[in-house]
Amino acid sequence: MKNIVILISGTGSNMAAILEAAERQHWEREHGVRVAAVISNKADAKGLQTAASRGVATQVLDHKAYASRADFDAALAQAIDAFEPALVVLAGFMRILTEGFVQHYAGRLVNIHPSLLPAFAGLHTHQRAIDAGCQFAGATVHLVTAELDNGPILAQAVVPVLPGDTADALALRVLSQEHVIYPRAVLQWLTRPGTAA
Ligand code: GAR
Repeated sequence: MKNIVILISGTGSNMAAILEAAERQHWEREHGVRVAAVISNKADAKGLQTAASRGVATQVLDHKAYASRADFDAALAQAIDAFEPALVVLAGFMRILTEGFVQHYAGRLVNIHPSLLPAFAGLHTHQRAIDAGCQFAGATVHLVTAELDNGPILAQAVVPVLPGDTADALALRVLSQEHVIYPRAVLQWLTRPGTAA
């Protein structure tokens, strides 16, 4: 069995999209892939309730309870590794991870970022795309490397930027496509040729 651990900080709509796809497409039966746990750094992350209501184990690790980023990442890795994950999925997990953490999960850590990387790494991606006069925006699923919002690209989705768009309107258009590409990219990565069942 290939276990997935999903990390969230907020709404968790990408997490929900992955849980829905896993159920609808019978990932466990068809591919030996299952979401084993959802972990949040925020106790009030809405996504925790969604995960629990679908019978997925949830856990909270409050980053504020740790003296340093390295301490938090060490505790986080310990919590994650209890589930022996084949893949760790960042889904709106709004913490910068230490190099040690990223290296520990090399090839097993994916992220979704709301821009067409390498354009607009970092925050406020939608406003920056509008301000730059982009005619297209989108989202990128990528393997996580030590550099922020970098790493090999696994999937992208493109949406138009419409006249008069606000950052919120564009964010919604992009998010609906995130929900399409993230579950697909996760399953593809876990079942790529050369990986044992
Ligand atoms: C998504 O748009 C995701 O791309 C973005 O946060 C949102 C989380 O939404 N991630 C980042 O900005 C990471 N740098 P969700 O909690 O509903 O999935």
